[in-house]
Amino acid sequence: MDTATTYKTKVTAAFNKAAAAYDRLGVEFFTPMGRRLVEHARPQPGQRLLDVGCGLGATLLPAADRIGPTGHALGIDIAEAMIEQAGQEARRQGIDNVELRVMDGEHPDLPARSFDLVLGSYSVIFLPDARAALARYADLLRDGGRIAFTSPVFHKDQFPFLPPLFSRWIPMSLLQHLPPAWHPEQLRRQLHSWLEDPADLEAALRQAGFTDTVITDEVVEMTAASGEDWVEWSHTQGMRLLWQHLPTDEAAALRTRLTGELDALRGADGLIRIDVPVRYVTATVAR
Ligand SMILES: C[S@@+](CC[C@H](N)C(=O)[O-])C[C@H]1O[C@@H](n2cnc3c(N)ncnc32)[C@H](O)[C@@H]1O
Repeated sequence: MDTATTYKTKVTAAFNKAAAAYDRLGVEFFTPMGRRLVEHARPQPGQRLLDVGCGLGATLLPAADRIGPTGHALGIDIAEAMIEQAGQEARRQGIDNVELRVMDGEHPDLPARSFDLVLGSYSVIFLPDARAALARYADLLRDGGRIAFTSPVFHKDQFPFLPPLFSRWIPMSLLQHLPPAWHPEQLRRQLHSWLEDPADLEAALRQAGFTDTVITDEVVEMTAASGEDWVEWSHTQGMRLLWQHLPTDEAAALRTRLTGELDALRGADGLIRIDVPVRYVTATVAR
């Protein structure tokens, strides 16, 4: 198996495992981010849209709601369990203009020029060659179609996917436990170095066939019911990478530290609020 295939197999297994608990562990993050991405994307009634790496539908379902009964929303995800759960969630919310398929979002097997909008919240970052995928998304769009996606605001010298606050509590020395392929510097180069600098991001989109790129960094307020809830939730997210490779004693020490520090942030209503910088990117196909 080549590196990209091995990587994808691991990502798929991780998200299949996470699906049942995904974003449902007393922590709110993907849902408010998805709703906000839809506000940036501005889907219109009757449009056809594609959500790449739709997960449980944090973006797909509010977008489907906006395009209404004459529109059509297709959600694709590489993890079968995510697609199953998204279907249940759509039925629960009574949204029936949604189609869901298990598909590799890096190579979508879909007709050219068949969508008005391509969405992807915290999913483009998982594609081994996202820049090549962007050009494929441009092909899928009708003239004047748009792309809208989110990514973390990456910083070179902190654990990927975590809000800056956490760099105070998670010593970089713990990252030595990650296998070389998951080392932050390696991940950064392979997956998101092009996302860090807005100029690189804009250039990648231009090269892929997009114009009018708008990059907006905003804060999503993540809420957690308790430090323990946040730590459990982090096992279903990017930080799972770290947890699964930490020696037992280091994992136990980190868990104690994080729950204590997070519980100390509780407000009068008992909720922990953490500001998470999120990058929203929109662009229009250049034809
Ligand atoms: C962090 S989750 C975000 C899910 C959803 N967009 C949300 O905001 O809640 C990333 C999603 O991307 C999916 N994913 C990762 N690699 C993928 C690929 N190559 N093709 C399609 N989906 C992929 C994962 O299975 C997971 O559901």
